[in-house]
Amino acid sequence: MSLLDLDTSRFGTDFNVRPFSVRHRLVGHPAFTLERLVELARRMPAERVEYNAGDLPLTQDPALTPRTGLSIEETIRRINDAKSWMVLKRVETDAEYGRILDECLDQVVPYAPDMRGRQAFIFISSPGSVTPYHIDHEYNFLLQVRGTKHMTIFDRDVLSEEAIERFYRGEHRNLVFDESRAAQGRTFELAPGEGVHVPVNAPHYVKNGPEASVSFSITFRTPDGDRRSSVYRVNERMRSLGIKPRPVGKTPLVDRAKYLGYALYKRVQRLGR
Ligand SMILES: [Fe+2]
Repeated sequence: MSLLDLDTSRFGTDFNVRPFSVRHRLVGHPAFTLERLVELARRMPAERVEYNAGDLPLTQDPALTPRTGLSIEETIRRINDAKSWMVLKRVETDAEYGRILDECLDQVVPYAPDMRGRQAFIFISSPGSVTPYHIDHEYNFLLQVRGTKHMTIFDRDVLSEEAIERFYRGEHRNLVFDESRAAQGRTFELAPGEGVHVPVNAPHYVKNGPEASVSFSITFRTPDGDRRSSVYRVNERMRSLGIKPRPVGKTPLVDRAKYLGYALYKRVQRLGR
């Protein structure tokens, strides 16, 4: 039986355009018990485990995110009352989680045949935790395995071109939440067995429900998405030189010229090293 239940009719119109619900069969999967997650966290290199206090505002300066003082293991074992937020990054490097990721994403390949850079993340978070407002570069499906979450997702056009350019310049993914746009978000209430597709660069924030939560985030990139990010980098450079660049996606020919210029620049840089 397949792990994902995809409404294939949504993909033609909504894939990577607007968020939509999916269902999955990971609830009760032995790889996602807290005991197994503790073992996984122990096996993982320290830099792949990020955790901090979970009771954060929607706008969080990443440099000032408070810690909890607990160890990784304590955080997972006491997740019900640890007031923590934790992510295990790149868990696909572990064979079992890599297989689960592949099994899920193989089902998406018909809609993204040039999929590459598959990565998986496990979020383990305390009741009421908040993932502040932010943007990501990957195509994402967030699958809720345990507990509940509200995920509020906005169209990428609520962001200015400059905000996206700053992200691609290498600034932290957290963004300043614009209260005047609050009503434009769509909130997905995720219970175990449910999930949501998040388009590339669609900003979002997450609030946990009243129980501890475990979610599995499966992500990938495409050559087209990577070309777009190169164009944002070029635009950021142009803007820093005082030139007002044409927004990404407005004129495909201009985007293509910028991408080719960027690719050439990168190749020359590599040859120079
Ligand atoms: Fe995200």
